[in-house]
Amino acid sequence: MRKKKIHIEEVKNFANVFYEVEPFVSFLSAYQNQEIVLELGCGKGEYSIALAEKYPDRLFIGVDRKADRIWFGSKSAKEKKLDNVIFLNILIERLEEFFQNIKISELWITFPDPQPKARNEKHRLTNPKFLAIYKKVLKPNGIIHLKTDHTAFFDYTLNILKVMKIQPLQTNRDIYDSSKLRDEVLSIQTKYEKTHLNLGDKINYLKFICI
Ligand SMILES: C[S@@+](CC[C@H](N)C(=O)[O-])C[C@H]1O[C@@H](n2cnc3c(N)ncnc32)[C@H](O)[C@@H]1O
Repeated sequence: MRKKKIHIEEVKNFANVFYEVEPFVSFLSAYQNQEIVLELGCGKGEYSIALAEKYPDRLFIGVDRKADRIWFGSKSAKEKKLDNVIFLNILIERLEEFFQNIKISELWITFPDPQPKARNEKHRLTNPKFLAIYKKVLKPNGIIHLKTDHTAFFDYTLNILKVMKIQPLQTNRDIYDSSKLRDEVLSIQTKYEKTHLNLGDKINYLKFICI
């Protein structure tokens, strides 16, 4: 069996990965009074893991539809003995089902697939349909962070916010601009980000609240 297939089978039995509403909601009930942070399209979960190490008093949840990628995050969390990071192997479109009662404080969208073709706009993680879902699972004034190497995706998102009359809290088209102070959390780099930095791409960052 190929490695990917083995990982997809293995991850089904990992205790820190959830697939169904009921066990997830039951697990989450112990975190009523804790800050919960989501990473959407977490891939191998590198950002969630780094944040969990940095903020041991918060619960981090990496969400991705690809089980073989989540396998890496789940394994890494276990090896590092991190009990404040878990993974949801679901489509982001289903978030509302999983967060009926407990709401989240912050949400990270890290290097989303840019979906540049017009016909794929429906899959862009910052289209109005997705923003409406995020609003429902976030606490009032919950924060959304976006990091992307893709300028067109960044511009698309800024335009959506403009149409929705949402004023960004922070807009940065080059987080590593040497003339600016470096933000420790923003400087966490996934393998994906490193690849783009090596190609000379700028990393864009946007922070906003869905009103
Ligand atoms: C370009 S990768 C970035 C991965 C990671 N954030 C990183 O920086 O390395 C985008 C990820 O988003 C996930 N994804 C895209 N659309 C999704 C959706 N609708 N629901 C769940 N995951 C999704 C993909 O499976 C993929 O792992």
